[in-house]
Amino acid sequence: DAAKSGYDHYMKKEIHEQPRAIRQCLRGRIAEPDGGITLEGLADLEPEGMVQFVACGTSSNAARYGARLLREHGIPTQTFLASEYTADAVPVDEETLVVGVTQSGETADTMRALREANGAGATTLALTNTVGSSAARECDHVCYIRAGPEIGVAATKTFVSQQVALALFTGALVGDSDPAFLEGLRELPELVQTVLDSSRAREVADAYVDADAYFFIGREYTAPVAFEGALKMKEITYKHAEGFAAGELKHGPLALVTENTPVFALLTAGSRLEKTLGNVKEVQTRGAPVIAVTDVPEEVGRYADHVLEIPSTHPQLTPILANVQLQLVSYWVANRLGRSIDKPRNLAKSVTVE
Ligand code: G6P
Repeated sequence: DAAKSGYDHYMKKEIHEQPRAIRQCLRGRIAEPDGGITLEGLADLEPEGMVQFVACGTSSNAARYGARLLREHGIPTQTFLASEYTADAVPVDEETLVVGVTQSGETADTMRALREANGAGATTLALTNTVGSSAARECDHVCYIRAGPEIGVAATKTFVSQQVALALFTGALVGDSDPAFLEGLRELPELVQTVLDSSRAREVADAYVDADAYFFIGREYTAPVAFEGALKMKEITYKHAEGFAAGELKHGPLALVTENTPVFALLTAGSRLEKTLGNVKEVQTRGAPVIAVTDVPEEVGRYADHVLEIPSTHPQLTPILANVQLQLVSYWVANRLGRSIDKPRNLAKSVTVE
């Protein structure tokens, strides 16, 4: 219990450690005052071809976020679930940079994908939390996310640190970062702290603890957070939860929506809010309660039954803040249901078999 520093669960402690984890990830990596980003060991990395991401679970949601950031800067990317990556079926050669996103650095599926990529002559990079891990040793380059040890099986602070490391990685590759983006990164620890201090996630969890299922919708930068919100909910509550790219709702998932399936809508400025609002109206027509996670509450509040507010920042960084609200909702639902939050049934922190 001493190791939990007064928190009931490691997961809660680790959620609250996120401002510190972000500070550690940023430390010494953004030069003052010019804002140049340096990631040790990656100075000479200049990918000429495709950047491919391979990852599993929560790390694959971080990878999707990172891929979106790179694409926005004109760098071509592909994202693969590591278990689906086979060098004979994927175009990979000496010009490809393959990035393994893995907090443990030991996940068997990710390790196999990285070995195949190395075998095909690609340059490989491990983005990991674990110094000296198998991924760190296998890859040509390593970038540490510096989250500190994570005990809870459900990844929280390592996910945030992966997102921040991928934002830094993008800045380092692009070379010339937008000053507003750098400012957003610098202020991120305080903004996450604001979310932690002011969140109304517990009220939302109380209101919907008996729901049949939970759906999460996001678009562009927030789609990976919708996937991650659902994954976290499944892992620790054992309830049905799904994340969708908002535009996909009408292509099937809408059939699942009822008055007992709350929909968490990521409605942030910069992620084509108006379009996602259209999807919100579709679920409301079917009677579903809507919880808006938003940095523009005055614009979207009237479309929602509950609002989980996040501070405004650079649009590419709002997904990081929105995710913290969803972590807290899952935590409180699991808590109300009396689940084994730190060690959910059937799951392991690190999966070393394929
Ligand atoms: C396991 C864990 C997940 C994690 C995944 C990938 O399934 O339970 O929380 O996201 O492995 O782990 P990695 O260490 O590769 O990031």
